[in-house]
Amino acid sequence: MADSTDGCETQIPDFKLIPHRGFYLISGIHSPKEVDQIQNWEIRDSDIFVITYPKSGTIWMQQILSLIEAKGDVAATMGQLNSERIPWIELIGSKKEFVSTPSPRFRVSHLAYKFAPQELKQKRGKVIYVARNPKDILVSYYHFHSYATMLETPKDFDDFFEKFMEGKVFGNRWFEHIKAWYSHRDDMNFLYVTYEDMIQDLRSVVDRICSFLEKNLTVEQKENVVEHSTFKNMKKNPSANYEPVSSSLLNHKKGSFMRKGTVGDWKNYFTVAQNERFDLAFQETMRDLPLTFLWDIKDITASLAPHS
Ligand code: A3P
Repeated sequence: MADSTDGCETQIPDFKLIPHRGFYLISGIHSPKEVDQIQNWEIRDSDIFVITYPKSGTIWMQQILSLIEAKGDVAATMGQLNSERIPWIELIGSKKEFVSTPSPRFRVSHLAYKFAPQELKQKRGKVIYVARNPKDILVSYYHFHSYATMLETPKDFDDFFEKFMEGKVFGNRWFEHIKAWYSHRDDMNFLYVTYEDMIQDLRSVVDRICSFLEKNLTVEQKENVVEHSTFKNMKKNPSANYEPVSSSLLNHKKGSFMRKGTVGDWKNYFTVAQNERFDLAFQETMRDLPLTFLWDIKDITASLAPHS
C-alpha cells in the first residue's frame, strides 16, 4: 500500500487484524509466535509494566512514569518518544531489547491477561493498570481508527460502535480485558489507576504511583511531574505527543494523539439507543467487579484548577 499524504510516496505495510487464540493482533507489527513467548519472559523484581486497553491514557502514564524516573526533569525525557522511553512488549523484536535493558525496565502492553509473563503472576515485578470509562474509550478509539494507518478506517460511528461492542478491534472487548486483569489483581503487585482519577487530581495519582514504586521525590519534583504531564503541556511537547511519528503510521492530517483529553465526550456521539445498549452490556458483564467509573466531567467535583 502506498501513501502520498505528505507529498512523497511512503510504503505502508499491509496491516490487518489477525485473530490469535481469541485475541486480535495486527499483522506487520505483531507476531503471534513472539507474543506466545512473552509468558516465558524472565521478570526482575524491579520491572514495571503498564497495562491498558487502547485509548485509556497509555501515553499519559508513559509520560508520568518517565518523568518520575527522571525526578521531574523534563529535559531528560526530551528527544525520545514515549513509546521509546516505555516500549511495547507485543511489538515484533521487543524481546531482545527487554533482555538487554538495565533495571529498572519500564514496559507497556495492551495484551489480554492470558498472554502476560507468568512471573508477573507470581508477584515478580509490578503492574500499573490504567482504566478509563469505556464510553469515552469507544469515542477516542473511533477517532484513532482514522488517524492510525495500521487500523481500518470505520465507515461511520455506528459501524465502529458495533465493532467495539463485538470486540472486533485490537484489544478485543473492553469488558473482558479489564475483567481478566482486575480479577487477578491479588496474584500480582498491582496498582489500579483510572484516567478519571488523573483528570480529577493528577498530583494524588503521582503520589500513589511514587509510593507504589517506592520512589522518593521531593514536593518540587512531583510538581514538575504533574506540570509536564498536563494535556496542555503534552500537546505542545513533540516528544510526548507522537508528532514526529512517520505518516506511514499516523496520518497527522486526520487527527492527533492528544485529541480532547476530557471526560464525557461520548455524550456527543452516542444515540439514546446506543447508550442503553452499552449500559446493559456494562451491567451484565461488570456485575461481579467492584468498579465504578465517572462518566461526565460534571461528576468531577474536586479541584481541577491547580493541575489542569
Ligand atoms: P481522547 O482521544 O479522548 O482525547 P492512549 O495513549 O491510551 O492511546 O490514550 C489516548 C487518550 O488519552 C486520548 O484521549 C488523549 O487525548 C488522552 N490523553 C493523553 N494524555 C493526556 C493528558 N495529559 N490529559 C488528558 N488526556 C490525555
